[in-house]
Amino acid sequence: MSDTTTAEKQSAGKPANNPTAPAFRKGKNVIAVASGKGGVGKTWFSITLSHALARSGKKVLLFDGDLGLANVDVQLGLMAKRDLNDVIRGRLSLDKVIQHYEEGGFDIIAGRSGQASLSALPSQRLAMLRDQLLEVAEKYDVVIIDLGAGVDRTVRMMSASATRTLLVTTDEPTSLTDAYAFIKLGNAAGMSKNVGIVVNQAPSNVEGEKTYKTLLKACENFLRLKPPLVGMVAHDPRVKDSIRHQTPILIRSPNTDAAEDVEDIARVMTKELAKVKAAG
Ligand SMILES: Nc1ncnc2c1ncn2[C@@H]1O[C@H](COP(=O)(O)OP(=O)(O)OP(=O)(O)O)[C@@H](O)[C@H]1O
Ligand SMILES: [Mg+2]
Repeated sequence: MSDTTTAEKQSAGKPANNPTAPAFRKGKNVIAVASGKGGVGKTWFSITLSHALARSGKKVLLFDGDLGLANVDVQLGLMAKRDLNDVIRGRLSLDKVIQHYEEGGFDIIAGRSGQASLSALPSQRLAMLRDQLLEVAEKYDVVIIDLGAGVDRTVRMMSASATRTLLVTTDEPTSLTDAYAFIKLGNAAGMSKNVGIVVNQAPSNVEGEKTYKTLLKACENFLRLKPPLVGMVAHDPRVKDSIRHQTPILIRSPNTDAAEDVEDIARVMTKELAKVKAAG
């Protein structure tokens, strides 16, 4: 059995310089973070995962892929001098808007808050941005893309170029239903093979497992898919506290449950990326 996606098959044979052809051969070190419903903790998780990987010695880039909303710099209290807007306008290349986030020891490409035009990029522009990101990614051990909620064109394209899409859900029924919809629509677009589940804000491990199993059952019954559970993150009041103080949780409360859970996921992903790399 082959593990190539439909989109990969469709792209086979297209010329390498075709801007709309997915750059599947690249992006082996790229992890996308997505969700069906908004507000489940993607940005906090993306920041903390980037931080955990950086602390383990990896060279990490966090890309704010929630185009137009600039989540990452808001949570970290950064004032980006240059951001994606400069890239979209053609003023700067993507590598020129990378900023080093000293406290976390990783690099960031910031979005631009309230820039509706960024979220409504024409496909060609979006493909160029993705290709530039995949170029830049070659200089890093890991690239994390914090995506917007839902499964729009931007999400599909970015997710398809990643080696793994971590789909974040909580145990709220609407979050679960939307996670299922994400997998269903993503599957129709040929990208679900790389989706793994992260249950965030789990009241306990037992509850978190239950949430995952509910989602798994629906995927098995209706889609014949078995997205794996990549990890669970506890519901933890220190998360809100660290966001309020615009300080990463691994600095403010490194030994709290949610921080340790993300560190576990970072270890899982490190192993997975090593396998992908070894497989060539
Ligand atoms: N593990 C957790 N424990 C407790 N609260 C959490 C946890 N994870 C996230 N939160 C809460 O969820 C809120 C939303 O988080 P965040 O902004 O990262 O979500 P998001 O999915 O990126 O949202 P959006 O879809 O709007 O981009 C945070 O402000 C925080 O209070
Ligand atoms: Mg966000």
